[in-house]
Amino acid sequence: MKNIYSNIYSFSKKTLKKTVKSLKQGNLVGLPTETVYGLAGNAYSNHAVKKIFKLKKRPKRNPLIVHYCNLNDAQRDVLLNKNFFKLYKKFCPGPLTFVLKKAVNSKLNPLVTANLNTVAIRFPKHKATKLILKSINFPLAMPSANLSSRLSPVQALDVLEDFQNNLKIIIDGGKSKIGIESTVVDLTGYPKILRPGLVSSVEIKKVLGVNLSKKKSKIKSPGMLKKHYSPGIPIIMGRKPKNQEDAFIVFGKKYKKNKHYFNLSKNADLKEAGSNLYKIMRKIKNKGYKRIFVEKIPNKDLGLAINDRLSRASK
Ligand code: TXA
Ligand code: MG
Repeated sequence: MKNIYSNIYSFSKKTLKKTVKSLKQGNLVGLPTETVYGLAGNAYSNHAVKKIFKLKKRPKRNPLIVHYCNLNDAQRDVLLNKNFFKLYKKFCPGPLTFVLKKAVNSKLNPLVTANLNTVAIRFPKHKATKLILKSINFPLAMPSANLSSRLSPVQALDVLEDFQNNLKIIIDGGKSKIGIESTVVDLTGYPKILRPGLVSSVEIKKVLGVNLSKKKSKIKSPGMLKKHYSPGIPIIMGRKPKNQEDAFIVFGKKYKKNKHYFNLSKNADLKEAGSNLYKIMRKIKNKGYKRIFVEKIPNKDLGLAINDRLSRASK
């Protein structure tokens, strides 16, 4: 069924067919996942992958995550190892991305991995996207569906905001449940978290039975260091605003109602805060505020990922 926007579709057998056809033709589509919405294209196609970088205005040296529906498909392109299987069993499908060595016979387009010999792979959980992956015989390269360095989208309308009519199909799969990008863990050597997310280092450590590396290794994905996740206005962390023209992001019960205050979670629940983060930043930006101040958020569990995104956005 068509939404009032001509390129936003709710998920049905008919839209599944339409989406699969479009992907097979080398087009890009906007898809829901449990973390954030993605901009998806055939990871084996030079044409499709090129279009992803172009449309997002993404630097070519920042590699993309490749999404699979099952292990069999993934092992055509990457070398799966012991640590991978342990984590896969516990967390997949779900919000965890693995960096692994690329298989010699991999058909992945070299642009996907920015010519690295490693690949980031993920098994998304959202029903619609899983069904789409099941219906095609290639994996999907799928970065978050936002212009490079901007806020990640957590609903179909956010995708529309950045790409307008440049995307012919955006599947509306409701609000992303988690609302923050997947944890990225490098398993090519000693396990190391490259990007924090809902699956925490404590949980990963427990499953693997080893401490995670804290070494500042050679930068493996340069894109991760750059300014990112930005609403396009300055963000000042750990401070209260001085005047009434600023927005203030708060957390927990202690603040009274104030129209310039935006509470990530009145219950001081970090998961709820994570799922509200991008929605609230987008709201503040669209209301025309010039600056965002952010109260200190506890730096544990999902708070680590929230602070990571906020501090990158404030660069
Ligand atoms: O939750 C998510 O992961 C979402 C949804 C759509 O799946 N996708 C996402 O993709 O966040 P993107 O492109 O916005 O972020 C991918 C991250 C980047 O930080 C990139 O540098 C890193 O993964 N990455 C990709 N390939 C890599 C590789 N071979 N080695 C190290 N890092 C890699
Ligand atoms: Mg992104």
